[in-house]
Amino acid sequence: MRFLTILLLFVLFLAACGGNATPTSTAPPTATLSPEAARGKTLFSQHCGACHSTMPDAVIVGPSLAGIAARAEARKPGQDGRTYLYTSILQPGDFLVDGYDNLMPATLGKQLTGEELDAVVAYLMTLP
Ligand code: HEC
Repeated sequence: MRFLTILLLFVLFLAACGGNATPTSTAPPTATLSPEAARGKTLFSQHCGACHSTMPDAVIVGPSLAGIAARAEARKPGQDGRTYLYTSILQPGDFLVDGYDNLMPATLGKQLTGEELDAVVAYLMTLP
């Protein structure tokens, strides 16, 4: 039993270290964003910024994503905001925002690694 406790503590220790040991961001994180969200912001400007602004009401090709964290919660009953965001990126045709065509590429899930996708969603969740 004691051995198990020590083992568990060791695993927790490793997990805690892992979070900080790997610098994943190339851009210096801004003060208010977590390193993951800061990386998401960079990825967003590379992969999404051509179609989506984060300024309120600024439509490029797609709708502005200002306030998306709150809106995502309300889009589909029974679906939480994060799930909605993952689905919007992986299967953009599943739910179309009123007044928009299905112009968002369905290939983003292949272009982004799972980790990059997590980072982009983490960033979107900072846009309250
Ligand atoms: C070629 C243009 C284009 C690109 C690139 C693009 N989108 Fe979109 N996006 C759209 C359009 C058009 C819509 C509205 C139609 C729909 O709902 O699919 C949309 C809708 C969305 C929505 C739903 C918004 C809402 O209010 O419910 C989210 C979230 C989203 N995009 C995120 C992203 C993210 C994240 C990326 C980059 C990884 C991205 N988009 C890249 C065009 C684009």
